[in-house]
Parts: sequence; C-alpha cells; structure tokens
Amino acid sequence: MSTVHFTDHAGETRTIEANVGDSVMETAVRNGVPGIVAECGGSLSCATCHVFVKEDQYDSLPPMEDMEDEMLWGAAVDREDCSRLSCQIEVTEDMDLSVTTPETQV
Ligand code: FES
Repeated sequence: MSTVHFTDHAGETRTIEANVGDSVMETAVRNGVPGIVAECGGSLSCATCHVFVKEDQYDSLPPMEDMEDEMLWGAAVDREDCSRLSCQIEVTEDMDLSVTTPETQV
C-alpha cells in the first residue's frame, strides 16, 4: 500500500491511500485534497501543483528534470530546497510520502 500525507498551509493533514503509477497531483485531485490546483492537468506547464516534500524524504525521490526545475521558478509561492511539482512525482510501491501545500497556487 502506498500513502501520501498532504498537510495544508494551516497544518491540517489528510492521509490518502494512493495508487501506484498515479502522480501525487492525481492522488490529490482525485481525492478532493485542497491546495493543489493542477491547472494544466499534469502537462508541466502551470506550476499550480507545487508542494514542499518533507525534507528527509526529498532525496529518496527521483531527481527532477530540467523543465520541472525551470517551472518551479514560476510558482506562486517561492520555491524552497524541498519544492517539487507534484504532477512529476510518481507514486511507487510502498511509498509513504509527506508533502505540504503552499498557501496559494495562483
Ligand atoms: S499540474 Fe501543471 S505543472 Fe503540475
């Protein structure tokens, strides 16, 4: 079983059972998790799926591609060292990932 914990800006956490192969963004949208807008539907052209990955889990994720890195500079809330675009994080077997959503995505 794979799990993603989404904590919003106010500190409320929702824990979602995620399907392997989905993105973290898809997991949020399908389950009505607020805080992720995903305007472009995951085609890496909006940066409204910005999340902050729990710091000690950041390095366990596959590194981001150049395009994601570039897009993060356009996020509504300034990126941090642990920033990722959640549409580019694939849920893997037995994943137990914690992310925080920024105050706003637009
Ligand atoms: S959903 Fe648009 S960049 Fe992730």
